[in-house]
Amino acid sequence: MEVVKQQSKISRRLLLFPAPFQGHLNPMLNLATILYHKGFSITIIQIPYNPVNPTHYPHFTFHLLNNSLLESYSKNSPPPDSVTVITDINKTCSEPFRDCLSQILSEAATIDQIQEPIAALIADPLCIFVGSVATSFNLPRIVLRTGSVSALLVYCSLSSLREKGYFPPQGTKLEEPLPEFPPLKLEDLPSETYHDLLETLVRETKTSQGVICNTFEEIEDSSIAKVQQTFPVPIFPIGPLHKQCPASAISISPQDQTSIAWLTTQAPKSVLYVSFGTVASMSKTEFLELAWGLLQSMVPFLWVVRPGLIQGSEANDPLPEGYLEIVAERGYIVKWALQFEVLSHPAVGGFWTHNGWNSTLESICEGVPMLCQPLFSDQFMNARHVSDNWRVGLKLEKGIKREEIARAIRKLMLEEEGAQMRSRVTDLKEKADLGLKEGGSSYKSLKKLISYLLSF
Ligand code: UDX
Repeated sequence: MEVVKQQSKISRRLLLFPAPFQGHLNPMLNLATILYHKGFSITIIQIPYNPVNPTHYPHFTFHLLNNSLLESYSKNSPPPDSVTVITDINKTCSEPFRDCLSQILSEAATIDQIQEPIAALIADPLCIFVGSVATSFNLPRIVLRTGSVSALLVYCSLSSLREKGYFPPQGTKLEEPLPEFPPLKLEDLPSETYHDLLETLVRETKTSQGVICNTFEEIEDSSIAKVQQTFPVPIFPIGPLHKQCPASAISISPQDQTSIAWLTTQAPKSVLYVSFGTVASMSKTEFLELAWGLLQSMVPFLWVVRPGLIQGSEANDPLPEGYLEIVAERGYIVKWALQFEVLSHPAVGGFWTHNGWNSTLESICEGVPMLCQPLFSDQFMNARHVSDNWRVGLKLEKGIKREEIARAIRKLMLEEEGAQMRSRVTDLKEKADLGLKEGGSSYKSLKKLISYLLSF
């Protein structure tokens, strides 16, 4: 991992507390690298579940919470689902977090406070105990919103949407538009199972002293403006974070180094990259339709089949017998790939994705149009914006059959409709790049954030 050099030191320390899931760790560690580069010293507090290896970040200080339950989850195979993990984090980490913070603050008081005072804590609002603990220490707390701002806006309105009778969505109503949040449809709303957690996340966010968002104004301007009106605290849209630091190569899974070598044997923009993120899963039937659809499309593909992708199966070889022989050189299957590197490869012409927010942003930032197959939570809302708002992707419906999959892949990769999406996503990529340059929207927002952090 490349070590980013710190610009002139500004003698203030930041404490960062990520939620331990890849889609949350990546943006938090990218933010840490950006702020380190701006001169802050960085301390990362980790939960003992999926902890990042501190030796990859020799320029940061690390603390690990004491929590044997979560430590044991890291060793479970298969690991518990992410909702169980976050529920248990919120049940069991408050006291260990308080102890850890108390130790850090008392050490700082004796050793560093004069030379390097702690400016603030930046935390993931999924960990809903952080606010009250930070308040009890009088520690300023900023949150990092790792998902989209438009989804946050929907979470803020869940109770009024419930009052209007949208939950549970009924039968044919599912495909109807949601007038409060165009272009969303009723079927895109998060299921009631998640409402408690999402509403507490909103409270944790609203009661902070500021919200850093991994997004940029050019794709979410109206949602950012509305959140800014709704929230009593400043909002800092400074994304896309991963484009601002060379050290985005964070992974809690073993890296596969061969994908890039395979991609270099392929023609420009010819390959469909297929990956459904780090937590979502699908049934064996869906997986097999997907496999045959890929084959029937005749389009070259790089496919990440992560352990745990297929519900109830840890099988090493979930593909039908003889599949790999039929695919031959046209397809390449790995357990994990360094996604942002894959997406930036010239051979990649499309991304079949679950539309986790990081994947969506990474695809936009490389000008890669998407085939959208959301599987849970905010992914449905992200996919709707990709297909109906920015019009840089095609949305696949659930329960889709192999023939339709093959048709959709060919449309995205080979036909005029796909070419138009590629041209629109290239425009968005350019806007993202401009936003990060001096005078751009995210550049200015980052400057404001730094002044704000120095004001505590
Ligand atoms: C989870 C939730 O599912 C999603 O709804 C929410 O928006 C974020 O958290 P996740 O599955 O982790 O999403 O997807 P995503 O947000 O796309 O993040 C995955 C990260 O892992 C990306 O940064 C991606 O580059 C990285 N990744 C994923 C790889 O590097 N290699 C892979 O093979 C897969």
